[in-house]
Amino acid sequence: MASARPMVNHRGPEFRRLVLDVTARLKWFFRTENDVLTLTASGTGGLEAAVVNTLSPGDRVLAVSVGVFGDRFAAIARAYGADVVKLDFPWGKAADPDQIAARLAADPNIRTVLVTHNETSTGVTNDLTAISKIVKERDRLLLVDAVSSLGALPLPVDQLGCDVVVTGSQKSWMIPPGLAMISISRAGWEACARATMPRFYFDLASAKRSLEKGETPFTPAVSLFFALEESLRMMEEEGREAIAERHRRVGAQARDGVRDLGLALLADERVASNTVTAVKAPDGIETRELLRILREEHGVVLAGGQGRLADKIFRIGHLGWVTEADIDAALSALRVVLARMITATDNR
Ligand SMILES: Cc1ncc(COP(=O)(O)O)c(C=O)c1O
Repeated sequence: MASARPMVNHRGPEFRRLVLDVTARLKWFFRTENDVLTLTASGTGGLEAAVVNTLSPGDRVLAVSVGVFGDRFAAIARAYGADVVKLDFPWGKAADPDQIAARLAADPNIRTVLVTHNETSTGVTNDLTAISKIVKERDRLLLVDAVSSLGALPLPVDQLGCDVVVTGSQKSWMIPPGLAMISISRAGWEACARATMPRFYFDLASAKRSLEKGETPFTPAVSLFFALEESLRMMEEEGREAIAERHRRVGAQARDGVRDLGLALLADERVASNTVTAVKAPDGIETRELLRILREEHGVVLAGGQGRLADKIFRIGHLGWVTEADIDAALSALRVVLARMITATDNR
């Protein structure tokens, strides 16, 4: 286990080599020449960093939301005093790029757009290619929550012109939670120089200055950097395209399997995510109980719904080190447990 390696001084040569090496390799996965900084924080910390480093209180921002995490991005901006214009889409649907274009055209004061690439709460992947085209054609700043996509789903950061992109260690990167990786474009740094929202721990300019010396401003989660070095090695061995292709396969397999069980997907099929599948709970089935039996009797851990989807859906996660055999095992267990619960309900 890489993360169990003996500790090193985070101001010493071993960590210096490690942080610079990991950063260069992350850039390859981000497909970017932009700066990439790794913060010791969860994904939400990375989103907060994106907001406080590029915005000033009173700045008008468009927050595009298709679920819980889109709402969270908006809430962070609001918490720091941004003037947030919310553009909500029904949960299970993707954001409509034309509506984003219309909002930007109608409100020239909006200079920044927040968007979730892959909405984990609903199992929907937004069309970031179309959205980034609209935002960048109008020369607005684009902040992207790619916590549950980058590394598993194609996201060519520079090709799409994404200014700030945030991902989290516990997702595609297959290591424990605790690191947020974030890329910032030249326009992102220009915004940073102007931005006056308060920041200290998440000050990205200070993180950049430290990285130039092979350090981080504060004590980093050194063990997670060890683990990241190893997971990047595994990911490079498999290859960027092969990883994306595997996620396409397991995503399709999960959705087909769910439909074969007679269950309905929450997400519109055309925009369904290849990293998470949200399934509508069948009538009369208590999702909490379903998840408990799957966990305790079959060792299969699925997630419940979040926010207003609590008890209405359950979710099958399939990002990171997930194979067809894992999906098969989850679907077989689901078949057995559902059959039992439906029989019990019928006999009541
Ligand atoms: C799309 C998305 N954004 C943000 C987050 C928040 O990340 P964290 O829980 O690491 O703070 C998550 C977590 O699941 C997520 O899936």
